[in-house]
Parts: sequence; structure tokens; C-alpha cells
Amino acid sequence: MIKTQISYLDLKPLNDRFAQEDLKTFREIYSSGKFIGGEWVTQFENEYASYCGASHCIGTGNGLDALTIILKAEIALGNLPVNARILVPAHTYIATFLSIAHAGMQAILVDVEALNLTALAIRQVNQKYDAILVVDLYGKLVEDEVYAFAKANSVNIYCDTAQSHGATNDKGVKAGSLAKASAFSFYPTKNIGAIGDAGAITTNDLELANMCRKIANYGRESRFINDVIGVNSRLDPLQAGFLSNRLPQLDADNKKRVEIATYYYEHINNDKVQLLSQDFLKNSVVHVFPVYVNNRKAFIDYLEAQGIGTSLHYEVPPHLQKAFKAFNHLIFPITEELHRTEVSLPCHPLITFEQMERVVHEVNGY
Ligand SMILES: Cc1ncc(COP(=O)(O)O)c(C=O)c1O
Repeated sequence: MIKTQISYLDLKPLNDRFAQEDLKTFREIYSSGKFIGGEWVTQFENEYASYCGASHCIGTGNGLDALTIILKAEIALGNLPVNARILVPAHTYIATFLSIAHAGMQAILVDVEALNLTALAIRQVNQKYDAILVVDLYGKLVEDEVYAFAKANSVNIYCDTAQSHGATNDKGVKAGSLAKASAFSFYPTKNIGAIGDAGAITTNDLELANMCRKIANYGRESRFINDVIGVNSRLDPLQAGFLSNRLPQLDADNKKRVEIATYYYEHINNDKVQLLSQDFLKNSVVHVFPVYVNNRKAFIDYLEAQGIGTSLHYEVPPHLQKAFKAFNHLIFPITEELHRTEVSLPCHPLITFEQMERVVHEVNGY
């Protein structure tokens, strides 16, 4: 029997679902002659703020800029000192670290217990810090206890929500309205992705929202008056329009991801392939479905030979990257083990039941 290929993620069919609307959006924007800012951007910002339950949404060029702009805005407002010490999980994508470096701040790295930063891990930190930057990795919300800890200790907390669009806690509060400010990426592979780079900041703090908007737009108060040192990182109207076309589909897509992940939990049964505890499915939109395998290269090659695509999240942790030489001597055993053994299985909204069955069958056959 010839086995059909199951790709890790194929952006073409995912985006083809919106082709007609996107072409209409493109024609409308093209003929409007207005290519920076304008009604498309405002419309998506309003829709996304309302979706997240946040008062404000500020479109940015990408997720890394969204994070960096939040931190820079807090310095400009005097809410964080220049050189602020930011508590951050060692287990994340490098962008989280980069935003701290770009804002001229210092990262204080903390190992995780299993995936995300926890209140328990934060309580054990004995270095001083000025704020906390958490990450909803793989689409799983950081536990409520972390926000409660920050509140109880009057510490500002920000969230890298680049992977958790639509994730909701037990009280129905969504990613984007749990932290003081949150940074989203709409990189094409995200649960809601643009057709290029795009990002956004959400917050309930009007002053912070205004400062973020200003910094993202050259630090400008009005056309020729610049108050602060800004950057050029605005959400492109075309991407805003494409994102508006995709937003109504996000909840259904997230639901499908959780269904696939639940099926994997129920049926993957192989001592050589470890899963996170099933708690991973709680308050999660499963942006990534991770499994952990010793000698992962052999596992990846085996799945490849069975026609199943995989991905890595990630290969080398940020603190061991050459770019962060100052951290290279640090040891975070859990983060390092997770990075050494992680393999991501296909988990996207277009996977069919037969494909899910095949993924499980091949994983169990390893
Ligand atoms: C956890 C995390 N943070 C930040 C980013 C940065 O987003 P972007 O690629 O849009 O700059 C990403 C995206 O790749 C991410 O996964």
C-alpha cells in the first residue's frame, strides 16, 4: 500500500479557505490607494481587542516588535527602569529573550517545571527583578497562580502570547487580557496567521496603549513632532484585512487542534515516546503538539520514512545560543532536556480522522 504524505503543516490549503475573501480584500485595498494605517488596520484592531476581551489593540509589524515595544513603552512611561531586570522562562523561543535585549534590559532566566513558568518556580528566585515576562508556550496559558503572585507582589507582568491566540482560562478570560500587556505574533504558521509578518499588542491600560502606538509609529505625537525614540513597526493594512477574514474561523480551528491533541493523548501508547502531563490540554489551544523522545533523530527519520512530517520546537535553547554568550555558562536542566528530546507532531485544523489514526499508528509502531 502506498502511504500518502501527512505534512507537519501545509499553509497552502489552510489559506485557500480564505482565498475568495482575501482577493476581494486585496482589490479593495489596492483600489483605495491607502497603504499605511487606515480603516483596515483600525477594524482588525477593534475586532481583535474585542475577541481578546481587552480594551486596546495596537497592530505591529511582527510579534518580536510587539514584545519590544511594550518594554520600551514601559521605560518611556517610567513604569520600568532603563536596564530593568526581567524574569523570563529559559524555555521559550529566542524572540522573548531578544525583546529584552532590544529594550536594553537584562533577562533573569528561570527554569521551568514542565513547560511554562510556574508560581512555584518564581517563588524560588532569589535574584531581584523589576517585572515578569511569561510565555504561553505551545498555546498553553500560563497558570493563573502566576498572575495572582504578580498581583499580590505588585510586580508588572507581561505575556508573550505569540502562540496562544484564543486560549481561555477557567474563568473565561482570554490570552491578551490576563497580563498588563500581551504581544501576539501573526506569523503565517500561528493559529491565526497572516500572509506575511504581522503582530499586535493588547492591553487594558490606556496610557500604555497610547505609548505603544506612538513608539510603533516613529515615536511621533503628530505628523512632524516626535516625543520619544520610536521604531517603524506598523500592521500592514493588507495583513490586517487578511487577519479580519481569518478571525471568525479561529475558535473552530482551535477546537479542532484540541480534539486532535485529545485523540493523541488517548491513543499514543509507546514507552519510547513521552507526552507532557494531560494538564497540557487545559486552557490550551495546542499551537504545537510536543512529544519527547531520546535519540529524536532516529524517531524523526522513522516517521519521515512512514510519510509523516514533524517539526522541532526547538533545537537549541536561547541561553545556549551564540547570540547570548553571556548566558552560555548557565544550566537549566529541564529546559535543556526538553529542547534535546522534543519532536512536534502534525496538529492543525485540516487533519482528517484517518490521518490522526495513521499518526498514532506509526508513532506506536516506533
Ligand atoms: C514564543 C514566541 N515569541 C515571539 C515570537 C515572535 O513573533 P514574530 O516571528 O512574529 O516576530 C514567536 C514567533 O515565532 C514565538 O513563537
